[in-house]
Amino acid sequence: MQAPERHPLTITVNGREHTLELEAWVTLLDLLRERLGLTGTKKGCDQGQCGACTVLVDGRRINSCLTLAVMQVGRSVTTIEGLADGDKLHPLQQAFVEHDAFQCGYCTPGQICSAVGLINEGQAKCSAEVRELMSGNVCRCGAYPQILRAVSQVAGIAPDSENAEHAVVTGTVPA
Ligand code: FES
Ligand code: FES
Repeated sequence: MQAPERHPLTITVNGREHTLELEAWVTLLDLLRERLGLTGTKKGCDQGQCGACTVLVDGRRINSCLTLAVMQVGRSVTTIEGLADGDKLHPLQQAFVEHDAFQCGYCTPGQICSAVGLINEGQAKCSAEVRELMSGNVCRCGAYPQILRAVSQVAGIAPDSENAEHAVVTGTVPA
């Protein structure tokens, strides 16, 4: 049987350029985790439904399980491993710690990368919009109220009234 064709790829991940050859079907998520050893980015559903795999491509958030690595030639990818500045946590990482915005932590890298993208987009002006625009990131532990507080704080959004902030309905995916 013929070996699968491989395609050359140069991609920058967390400021470091990588040149490699890949089969066309390798997702960005599998490139990060399996080829580059960056396991901070999580694989949840592997079909675009949970947001655990969210990373930033040229500053925009993306589900890395839904994009092929070869489509990202020449792009700059940032994962959770690339957010801190040496020993200094990224403000969102610090806020997640301060607000206790995780339990198992499996969704957390995706939540934080998604929040970086959200803030870059500049579209969220209130807590309700943070919830809506983070709704692609699911937290099975239900840490949504704390996640909302952490993201809102860094985004400079005043928290809603306590009632609104706790209006989390089981089975929905508010942020
Ligand atoms: S692993 Fe990509 S969205 Fe769930
Ligand atoms: S902290 Fe466990 S899934 Fe979100």
